[in-house]
Amino acid sequence: MSTAASKRNEILGRARPLKERDGHEIQAFGTIARLPIALAEEVCKASVENLNQLVADTMTLRDMYKKHHWQVAGPTFYPLHLLFDKHHSEQSELVDTIAERIQSLGGVGLAMAHDVAETTLIPRLPRGRQPVAVQLSRLLHAHEVILLEARSMARQAASAGDDGTNDLIVSDVIRTNELQVWFVSEHLVEVPLL
Ligand SMILES: [Fe+2]
Repeated sequence: MSTAASKRNEILGRARPLKERDGHEIQAFGTIARLPIALAEEVCKASVENLNQLVADTMTLRDMYKKHHWQVAGPTFYPLHLLFDKHHSEQSELVDTIAERIQSLGGVGLAMAHDVAETTLIPRLPRGRQPVAVQLSRLLHAHEVILLEARSMARQAASAGDDGTNDLIVSDVIRTNELQVWFVSEHLVEVPLL
């Protein structure tokens, strides 16, 4: 083998995934890496646990919006196609905000679809397409699951002195979800013809 070929093989060898290190972690899920943020470890742990539930449910709602964006049908196809995509982007931003809060508290955020599926409280959707009225009511139910847990988590964070988590849940999660519920709900109002 020429020197160039053996150099190339050496570089390619280094580029292969290190399979023998698959099980290696630098921090276990559920543990707290202490950061100097003037919050007790148990306070961080409780907030991280709640935020991980919130991240799983927010990821699920985000993905519901994309599913419905693709699969919506009927005379309201175009406005709903656009609205569902807008709400998907906003939920996607929330996922990042919540996950980064978890890391700021020294925790480990849920990230992968299989972990989200095991954790979320939002009922599983069928793979097939559903009519608009069903899409809308399933979305409203998912929002309410999130709002219900978010309100109680915000109160828990406030009483534990974790103001940052309380503010994030109230200012970002609750307000975004309430606004999206309004936009979705208006499509279910029957307006009488004059
Ligand atoms: Fe699209």
